[in-house]
Amino acid sequence: MQEILREIREGARLFVKMVFSAPAKKSPALSEKLSLTRAEENKNGTLFFAEEFIGTKAFHHSLTEEELIPFLTEKAEACRFRQVNLFSPEGEIAFRISKKGQISRSVNKKSTATAPLSHNRQKRYRIAEGDRVPFMVDLGVFSKEYKVISSKYDKFRQINRFIEILDHAFQDYPKESISVLDFGCGKSYLTFFVYYYFSVLQKKRVSIIGYDLKEDVVASCNALAQRYGYHGLKFVVADVTRDRLSEDPIDFVISLHACDIATDYALNFALEREVPYIFSVPCCQHEVGGSIRKGGGDLDLFLDHGLFRERMSALLTDAFRTRILECEGYRTDVLEFVDFAHSPKNLMIRAKRKPHAPKKSMAPLFQMEEQYGFRQTLLHLREEAKHV
Ligand SMILES: C[S@@+](CC[C@H](N)C(=O)[O-])C[C@H]1O[C@@H](n2cnc3c(N)ncnc32)[C@H](O)[C@@H]1O
Repeated sequence: MQEILREIREGARLFVKMVFSAPAKKSPALSEKLSLTRAEENKNGTLFFAEEFIGTKAFHHSLTEEELIPFLTEKAEACRFRQVNLFSPEGEIAFRISKKGQISRSVNKKSTATAPLSHNRQKRYRIAEGDRVPFMVDLGVFSKEYKVISSKYDKFRQINRFIEILDHAFQDYPKESISVLDFGCGKSYLTFFVYYYFSVLQKKRVSIIGYDLKEDVVASCNALAQRYGYHGLKFVVADVTRDRLSEDPIDFVISLHACDIATDYALNFALEREVPYIFSVPCCQHEVGGSIRKGGGDLDLFLDHGLFRERMSALLTDAFRTRILECEGYRTDVLEFVDFAHSPKNLMIRAKRKPHAPKKSMAPLFQMEEQYGFRQTLLHLREEAKHV
């Protein structure tokens, strides 16, 4: 095996894919197969993604060039692989190792492989079609062949875009551990991907809790997290509008299409706990639309037709939320999260806490509420918080 590892060390940058299989040592704790893909070159050198299959679980590691050989040495010693295949644009080198340790080496120039990812840092945070990310199959976004299932294409775009935004915010984040809460996680496509992004790609210690009302969905997400050995990823049945939530320090809160006022509770939690970052994509903003009435001002223009009422009320809700965050000392921006064609619920409120920012009065918001007779939950939660 030393010879093979030497060849890998010398040509690591050439090898696009390396597969170690047929272990002589078998145990439930040892890997049956190890597959490495060269991912990208960045300022720290070449990066490799390893997928290790142990029993029914797949474990993921990301390795720098320096970490590659020690990692392979350790795995090779433990498992005693008898088959190694190295793929490059020039062809495939196959090694067979006999029971007596003799190595045979063959080259197949027709079996070429090119780099699956370009040397473009933009792709680092993305899960691309064809990437062997097993939870994407289990969650029903990818087929068994790692192709995007057409009905899940919008979700696939949304989670990739969400990660792109997180990547932008956290690429130079100095902390080695990250703690996240996801409000209304549902089937948790995003939650899994956020975990994968920070723990596997960024190699941070990650703790994520996804909250949802649905017991069955929470149970299946927990089973999946266990199956992949994602120890920092947990799902909890909770009604975020009334249940007691985590008391641990949190780095950021996410919510993706958390229904109606569940979003207000996510934002309120973040404000109360002075969470540094918030990324929230609201949905089903029914509260304001259900209570607003004409108040003798400019908004009356929108209240004669149902469609105007509905759209204006949804925008008014999110404008209130954003202004409240600003009044509480957060810097905000509002962005079109994905193209409207991929989801009409495409507005993201992104907020970053400014630690010493003075608080501003929310009186104009209360005046507007009173004039038009509606109720906006976050405003009232903040008012209640003042009196606690
Ligand atoms: C539209 S789904 C979005 C799921 C997921 N975030 C996604 O984007 O795929 C909204 C989820 O919010 C959950 N939810 C709604 N109100 C909630 C509440 N008060 N507490 C916890 N979860 C809630 C629902 O059960 C549902 O799974």
